[in-house]
Amino acid sequence: MPSDERPDHDWTEELPPITWSPTAPGIPVGAVSQQSITPDEARARVAANGIVIRRVRLREMLQVARIQRRAFPPRLAYPVATLLTLSLLPVVQFAVAVQGRQVLGCAIGDRSGLDARVINIAVDPAARRLGVGAALLFELETTLSGGDMVLMVQRENGGAHALYRRVGYIDVGLAPDYYGRGRHGIWMRKHRPTRFPGR
Ligand SMILES: CC(C)(COP(=O)(O)OP(=O)(O)OC[C@H]1O[C@@H](n2cnc3c(N)ncnc32)[C@H](O)[C@@H]1OP(=O)(O)O)[C@@H](O)C(=O)NCCC(=O)NCCS
Repeated sequence: MPSDERPDHDWTEELPPITWSPTAPGIPVGAVSQQSITPDEARARVAANGIVIRRVRLREMLQVARIQRRAFPPRLAYPVATLLTLSLLPVVQFAVAVQGRQVLGCAIGDRSGLDARVINIAVDPAARRLGVGAALLFELETTLSGGDMVLMVQRENGGAHALYRRVGYIDVGLAPDYYGRGRHGIWMRKHRPTRFPGR
């Protein structure tokens, strides 16, 4: 595997402790320790780097698949066929961050019952900490109709967990062994007005 194809998924950072809400026994509630990022701040930050957030184009699927391989362990990386199928489904929103002709990241979401769900988000390791992930999450919020935003993150994935907290998600539940034995998932939710229209 060439060095620039090496995945970057060392999800071993320490997470802040999860506390349990006295009003909802069994439901963990995460503390938001840092100031939130606003949609305007996220958009301005990527724009300052010449990065555009928009819907994916078919010809970009190979680039997106490559980012998946660089961002996730093999069992979690979406192959081209899956990405193509998702991009064609009307209930799915599929956003990319693009600089010139280069795709830097992607975010995929859909409706799930009354909620809107983040299915997948990945940013190329070379383009991280530029605000791309935050801007992609806000793009899904803008384009997905429905109520609250929901997602699942692996407990060991400290970077993604920190990002979600900064854009307003809170921990609402634990899914033991969701990602395999001993690899727990954390359900996160962000409240939105019920009739958020999308576009
Ligand atoms: C998680 C991921 C999408 C973040 O993308 P990103 O573009 O680097 O995120 P942003 O630059 O928008 O980060 C915004 C804020 O989130 C927090 N954050 C993001 N990544 C972080 C990390 N690795 N460690 C700590 N905080 C982090 C920071 O507060 C950051 O603001 P700052 O850079 O000003 O400090 C990216 O690391 C990734 O693709 N990881 C592999 C795939 C993955 O884990 N997907 C999620 C599966 S649930």
